[in-house]
Amino acid sequence: MTRVLSCIQPTGEVHLGNHLGALRIWVDRQAERDAFHGIVDLHALTVTERPGVVGDQTLELAATLFAVGLDPDVATVFVQSHVPEHSQLAWIMECTVSFGELSRMTQFKDKSAKREGEFISAGLFTYPALQAADILLYDSNEVPVGDDQRQHVEITRDIAIRFNHRFGDTFVVPELVTPPVGARVMDLQDPTSKMSKSSTTDAGCVYLTDAPAVVLKKFKRAVTDSDTDVRYDPATKPGVSNLLEILGAVTGRTPVQVAEGYTQYGPLKVDAGEAVVALLEPIQARRRELLDDRGELTRLLRVGADKARAVASATLERAYRAIGLLPA
Ligand code: TRP
Repeated sequence: MTRVLSCIQPTGEVHLGNHLGALRIWVDRQAERDAFHGIVDLHALTVTERPGVVGDQTLELAATLFAVGLDPDVATVFVQSHVPEHSQLAWIMECTVSFGELSRMTQFKDKSAKREGEFISAGLFTYPALQAADILLYDSNEVPVGDDQRQHVEITRDIAIRFNHRFGDTFVVPELVTPPVGARVMDLQDPTSKMSKSSTTDAGCVYLTDAPAVVLKKFKRAVTDSDTDVRYDPATKPGVSNLLEILGAVTGRTPVQVAEGYTQYGPLKVDAGEAVVALLEPIQARRRELLDDRGELTRLLRVGADKARAVASATLERAYRAIGLLPA
């Protein structure tokens, strides 16, 4: 079975765009692939300075991933720091990638420019080596990533090819795949930008943890367009099209089909809000339940870590042997 790896950093809250655009598809497809989902807490350390934060966010993200429907008996959901092989292989990756290659990473250039005058950790620079370790440890065949991560998957392929050439065939060279497209959810206040936790106001972003009243209010206040007809046309009517897209994604219809049922903006906003509330209710209930039962959440993550470790330790061992490190 094709093995797919996706990883997310435990930074910030999960929003409706993450859910309809990606998480829900991970859930729908979990049985078709051998799916590994890493919560990459060590990557989050590149920009974290306060104690406790990463651990709490890791737990919350884990609860969310299980609550949306990732099944620990089907998919492997694990925390990166629970699998020490990530750090161990990362060093080998650092010795297989060049300073020049890392210097050309646009994410490093952007992020370090933004932090100009602040502390820029060496980890921010070597970040792609840890990411390469994440990918190669699992013999991943496919790594579905968005545009911002393509360069990191490409450098991983270069590292794998170089290592295999130096030390003999060891790593599977992963394919970069475009993630299956879920709904493209835009900011409710600025429907020409993608919904994002870093948008200027919270009003345009619906978090998975938002209370029903908050969700309904955000939809009621959603920006619509200047004329009054309900039509799916993202180029000239981005606000209304976004509402149609969301309501369609939640109810399993195309935005064009949804548009047929409306002549006014008001009812569309109400229905979209109510549909999202109904979608989120069971997720929120399950998430609460898991967060109230730490023992169960810890157990689920241990199941994931054990499965991940079984694969990762074999790969690390193969790499050590290929290099010819002296066995302990
Ligand atoms: N760098 C990725 C991001 O910021 C997260 C990530 C870490 C990742 N390791 C990975 C993604 C391995 C895919 C595969 O989104």
